[in-house]
Amino acid sequence: MCGIVGYTGKQKAYPILINGLKALEYRGYDSAGIALFESGKLKISKEKGRVKNLDDNSDLKSSNSSIGIAHTRWATHGVPSSDNAHPHLDNSGNFAVVHNGIIENYLELKEFLSKNGYKFKSETDTEVIPNLIHYYYEKEKDFLQAFNRTIKDLKGSYAILVLSPLFDGIYVAKMNSPLVIGEGEDENFIASDIPAVLEYTKNFYFLNDGDLAYITNNSLVFYNNDLKEVNIPKKVIDWDKNAADKNGYEDFMLKEIFEQPRAINETLAGRIILEDKCNFLDINIDSKYLKNVNKIYIVACGTAMHAGRVGKTVLEELTDIVTIVDVASEFRYNYQVIDKNTLCIFISQSGETADTIAALKLAKKNGAKTIAISNVIGSSITREADYTIYTHAGPEIAVASTKAYVSQISTISALAIYFAEILQVKDITYLEKLKKELLDIPEKIDDILKNSENYKKIAKDIHNVKNCFYIGRGNDYTTAMEGSLKLKEIAYIHSEAYPAGELKHGPIALIEDGTSVIGIITNKKILEKTISNLQEVITRGAKVVLVTDCNYENNDMIIINIPKTNYLFAPILAIVPLQLIAYYVAKEKNLDVDKPRNLAKSVTVE
Ligand code: AGP
Ligand code: GLU
Repeated sequence: MCGIVGYTGKQKAYPILINGLKALEYRGYDSAGIALFESGKLKISKEKGRVKNLDDNSDLKSSNSSIGIAHTRWATHGVPSSDNAHPHLDNSGNFAVVHNGIIENYLELKEFLSKNGYKFKSETDTEVIPNLIHYYYEKEKDFLQAFNRTIKDLKGSYAILVLSPLFDGIYVAKMNSPLVIGEGEDENFIASDIPAVLEYTKNFYFLNDGDLAYITNNSLVFYNNDLKEVNIPKKVIDWDKNAADKNGYEDFMLKEIFEQPRAINETLAGRIILEDKCNFLDINIDSKYLKNVNKIYIVACGTAMHAGRVGKTVLEELTDIVTIVDVASEFRYNYQVIDKNTLCIFISQSGETADTIAALKLAKKNGAKTIAISNVIGSSITREADYTIYTHAGPEIAVASTKAYVSQISTISALAIYFAEILQVKDITYLEKLKKELLDIPEKIDDILKNSENYKKIAKDIHNVKNCFYIGRGNDYTTAMEGSLKLKEIAYIHSEAYPAGELKHGPIALIEDGTSVIGIITNKKILEKTISNLQEVITRGAKVVLVTDCNYENNDMIIINIPKTNYLFAPILAIVPLQLIAYYVAKEKNLDVDKPRNLAKSVTVE
C-alpha cells in the first residue's frame, strides 16, 4: 500500500534506495527499511518513523553494495514498529522480502508454516512470504519455481521484491498492487511508483497482475504465472517532478478519486467471501452479544458522518437493529441513552478527530461496546476503541475526502452483512446477492470514471453560480449532503442539501433563474416523487442536473446515467460524478484543490 524501491547496478545502492523512498514519502507511511547484499551476506536495517530516521540510524549508510531493496510501510497488519517494518526474512535468513499490499489468507498460511516448524517474529501478514519461499525452495531447489509456487498460494494483493545470496539479481512479483521496472544502462530499478526512480530513468515497463520478473544489472526477464517468458512493451515517461508525485494526475484529489475502485477492493478483501460466511477477524462480537444489542449509534464528523448515514440504512435493513447517526460534536454534549447493550461505531479516516475521540470516550464511560472504523493504523481512535476495523483505503492526502468515504461505506456495508449472517434474520440467498453486488462495485466505478469529459462540461456550466442545491430522498439525500460538502469545500460555492420533499417547505423561495439544482435518484420506487420536485424547480428557472441509475429521459435536464446496483450501495456509485463535478468546478476557478482554504486534513481541536 505504500512504497517499494529496488536497485541493481554499478552505483552504490544505499543512496539511490533512500532517495527513492523519500520521493514516495508524500504517500504517507509509518516505518521504513532497507536490505543490501554485501560480502555474501544480507544486511538489513529498519526503523519506525520517517525515512530520515532510518537514514540517520542505519549502519548501512557507508555500504558499497550495489544491490538492494527498500520499503516504506503503511501498516495493515500489526502496529507500526521496527519489528513489523519490512524487509522480512525467512527463518533460514536467506530470503529478504519487501511487500506492499495485503495477504488475505496469511493466517491459514501461518498455521501451515507453523505446523512445519517455522517461527514468526512479526505481526505482519508479509512474514509468511519469505517463509513460504523457503518452504518451497527446500522442495524445488530452484528459486523461480519456488517463488511461483509461493505466489500461487497467496490470496490478496502484493508487489513483492526478493533479495537473496542465492542469486545475483532481484526477483519481483505483482498482483493488484502497483509495480514498475525502470531500465537504465548497466543498472535497473524497481519501484511501486514512477516518482521513486524518475530521477534516473524515463524508460519503464509495467508488469501485469500475475507476472513475475527477474532483474539484474543488465537483464530484465518477465514471466507470466505459467513461467513462460513474456514481452512487456517499454514506455517512455516524460513527467516533470510535480506530475510524478501525483502519479501523473494533476492533483492528489483526482488521483484519489481514480483510486476508489482499488480502495474498495482492499476494503472488502478477505472480508466478503462469496459462498461462505463473511470474515471479520478484527472484531470479536458473538451472536449472544449481538442478539442483545438494543441499538447502534454511529458517530462521526463531516464526510465520515455521511458514510455513517449510509451505514445506518444498511445496518437497519439487514439486522433490524435501530441505528442512530449523530455528529460527534453534538453527541458528546447531548443526553445519551446508552448502556452495555448499545453498540457504538465511530468512523474517522484520520483516527485523530478530536470530537470523534471524545465521543468514543464518553460512550465507553457509559458502558457501550465501541468499534472504531479508521484508515490509519495505530491512530488515536483505534487505541481507544474496544475493536478497530481498518478501511485499508491507502493514504488519503487531499483534504477533501473521497476514497476514504467509499471505503467507509463499503466497510460498514460488509459489517452489516456479517452481522446479518450472525443474527440469521435475513434470507441467505439475499445476503449472497448483496455480497456479489458489493464486490461488483469497483468495476462499476471504473465505468463512471470513464466519463470525465462529461463532468468537465457540466462543471464549466455551473462554475459561476452563486447557489447550488442538491436534493434526493433516503440514501440519495445522503449523497446530496456529501456532494454539497465537496462543492463547498473545494469550489467555495454556497450549496445546500435537502431531502427532495422538503424543498417546498421553505428553500424553494431561493430558486430563481439560473440556480443550479442537482438531483440524485437511485431508487426506482421514488423516481416520480423526486422528478416532481425537480420539475418544481425547473418551472422556477433552475438548471437541473440529474444523477440516476433509473431508465429515465427528460430534455429539460442534463442526465448523468450511472450503473445499477442494489439501492443500499448506490451512494458509493452516485457520489463519484459529484466528486468529479466539484473537482472540475474548482479547477475552472483555478483553486488549490488539495489544500482548500480554512480546512485541515485532520481536525484535532474541538
Ligand atoms: C471531508 O472532505 C472533510 N475534509 C471532513 O468533513 C472530514 O471528513 C471530517 O473532518 C472527518 O475527518 P475524519 O474522518 O478524519 O475523522
Ligand atoms: N500488509 C503489509 C504490512 O502490514 C504491507 C503493508 C504495506 O503495503 O505497506 O506489513
